[in-house]
Amino acid sequence: MEIQDRVFLVTGASSGIGLATAVALAGRGAKVALLARSGDALEALSRRLPGSFPIPADMTKFDSVREAVGAAHRKYGHIDGLVNNAGRSYAAAVEEIEPEIFEEIFRLNVLGPIVAMQAVIPLMRAQGGGSIVNVNSGTAFMTVPRYSVYAASKRALLGFSLTARAELEKDRIVVSEIYPFITATNFGKNRMGKPGAGPAANYADGDTAEFVAGLIVQAIEEGQAQYFANDRLRKMAGA
Ligand SMILES: NC(=O)c1ccc[n+]([C@@H]2O[C@H](COP(=O)([O-])OP(=O)(O)OC[C@H]3O[C@@H](n4cnc5c(N)ncnc54)[C@H](OP(=O)(O)O)[C@@H]3O)[C@@H](O)[C@H]2O)c1
Repeated sequence: MEIQDRVFLVTGASSGIGLATAVALAGRGAKVALLARSGDALEALSRRLPGSFPIPADMTKFDSVREAVGAAHRKYGHIDGLVNNAGRSYAAAVEEIEPEIFEEIFRLNVLGPIVAMQAVIPLMRAQGGGSIVNVNSGTAFMTVPRYSVYAASKRALLGFSLTARAELEKDRIVVSEIYPFITATNFGKNRMGKPGAGPAANYADGDTAEFVAGLIVQAIEEGQAQYFANDRLRKMAGA
């Protein structure tokens, strides 16, 4: 899909990969609806990006997700693309998993993105097509001690994305997935779980958020099913 003059909704636009994606899309002439919980950060970003629109919303609250999609649609009259990027990880050994946090991670990383897709699909179908990009994780293909909940949430997202891609092909709605590797954002800092659980990676030495945003732009333009940050991940995925 062409990006110029199109309308995109980017979730998790207040930080990291989502922020870099909003900047990249606006730089290519798109109008970008910016969704996250941090209204002040979205306001500040929207002042930098002409045509953008801040929509404070919580992806774990499904009515809030539906209202955010409605607000973007009312503002622009159409929505051409959805980038489901908001997400967090959680460090806890299996024997220590707290069901409430498990639930929150699955609401944020799996159900929120599904509800956002459900809200945009009828709009895109009526428009004759659209692009949905779900930001997954290389962790979906790995066994990382203490990160089973996060990995399981991303494996679930993988399944829903590929199925939605097959279901929506007839409507010219293209569903793609991005698999970042370790990326230098606030992701490690925003991880849930006990502080002592420790980081699984040195995020500061990772890929840049701009690099991952470039993959998202590529996915929107080309529409293949999966994009990997590196060959190691591609091999692990058997792609
Ligand atoms: N960084 C990595 O190493 C890495 C690797 C693989 C995959 N990923 C994936 O990349 C995506 C983006 O992460 P990032 O690295 O850019 O991390 P980040 O800098 O922590 O950004 C996460 C974004 O998600 C938003 N968010 C968190 N909870 C939310 C909620 N309940 N409702 C709405 N928005 C919420 C945050 O905004 P607010 O706090 O303002 O709500 C923020 O904008 C995630 O899906 C993550 O799983 C990251």
